[in-house]
Amino acid sequence: MPHHPMLSGDRFRLGTFSTNCSSGMTPTKVPERWNNSWDNNLKLAQMLDEAGIDFMLPIARWIGYGGETDFHGGVLETMTWAAGLLAATKNIAVFATIHTAANHPVVVAKQMATIDQIGHGRAGLNIVAGWNKPEYEALGLTLPDDHETRYAYAQEWFDLIRKLWTSKEHFDWDGKYFKATNVKGDPAPVRGSVPIINAAGSPQGREFATDNANFLFTPAIDLDRSKAEIAELKAQAKAKGRDVNVLTFSHVICRPTEAEAKAFADYTAVQNADTDAVDNLVRLQFAHAHSFPHDLLAQIKHLFALGHGGFPLIGTPDQVAEGILKLHAAGFAGTTLSFVDYVGEFPYFRDTVLPRLEAAGIR
Ligand SMILES: Cc1cc2nc3c(=O)[nH]c(=O)nc-3n(C[C@H](O)[C@H](O)[C@H](O)COP(=O)(O)O)c2cc1C
Repeated sequence: MPHHPMLSGDRFRLGTFSTNCSSGMTPTKVPERWNNSWDNNLKLAQMLDEAGIDFMLPIARWIGYGGETDFHGGVLETMTWAAGLLAATKNIAVFATIHTAANHPVVVAKQMATIDQIGHGRAGLNIVAGWNKPEYEALGLTLPDDHETRYAYAQEWFDLIRKLWTSKEHFDWDGKYFKATNVKGDPAPVRGSVPIINAAGSPQGREFATDNANFLFTPAIDLDRSKAEIAELKAQAKAKGRDVNVLTFSHVICRPTEAEAKAFADYTAVQNADTDAVDNLVRLQFAHAHSFPHDLLAQIKHLFALGHGGFPLIGTPDQVAEGILKLHAAGFAGTTLSFVDYVGEFPYFRDTVLPRLEAAGIR
């Protein structure tokens, strides 16, 4: 059986993020903003697959952030999105992003096993333990105020999934959050499990991630901090006998000249920012989640307008490649990429930046 594309080899992993959501990662009003139609996702997935990109990661979102564009108001559901893309590609890994509170573990265990068969062992699961209060309210759910409860729930949710994937017998489950009688999970994923992503920022969430995930996602705002953070996370996992790799997310504007790249950044994220959506996005992130360092708010607000807080890779192919090499040097194992228009802009990145990364020996 071939290795899973996310678990074999030591190249610096590259993926895309949020192509299933309207406007991708950029809350902007420009007409070039991402149209997240299925057809565009399919076209992009096949282009990424052919170019050797490692993975696609979607965002699970139930209501948008408002503003003139209702940023992320239009969203393709991630399990069905992943199923379709896995059927239409050959090598790329495709993740589903699942909110523990909105999806019953017995159902998710089977859905993951199913899409993993569709992709011949290329599926992955991004677990979201919950943070976005208005979304919980939209689903008639209550977001627990404390992180202990959110992650205790997520742990039991995932323990039940793992048991469904490994138990050969029917079993009963009598937990704090879930009860199940005479349950069995058949089939299991192709390799028995799938790569797990988690993007926790809080201490409780990081315990969960180092206990369960293969990849922890964290923002790259200040690379000196990232270096220390990555070393700490890897040590925390190692103490538990686990190996966790740390990934981040980046926003790309790559153009033949630096002036053109900067002008496009200004056009999308300053002149035409959907400022109400940016404000809502930042307000919600800071109200309920611990992902972003709270002392860097001003800098972070601009980064949210540009690419949802992603690491900016803005400039010529040399400059963009240099930025990626810096992420690699900081200890990240990979990054997602976003573009204002993924289908329109990826080919230039593919043709100019990928060869530079290969020459530098990280791909
Ligand atoms: C790469 C990445 C992917 C994420 N995907 C989602 C998502 O799809 N849906 C969602 O509601 N939140 C998503 N989040 C938000 C995180 O789940 C949230 O910031 C995290 O729960 C905060 O950490 P904490 O729970 O420890 O406070 C993502 C965050 C990152 C960095």
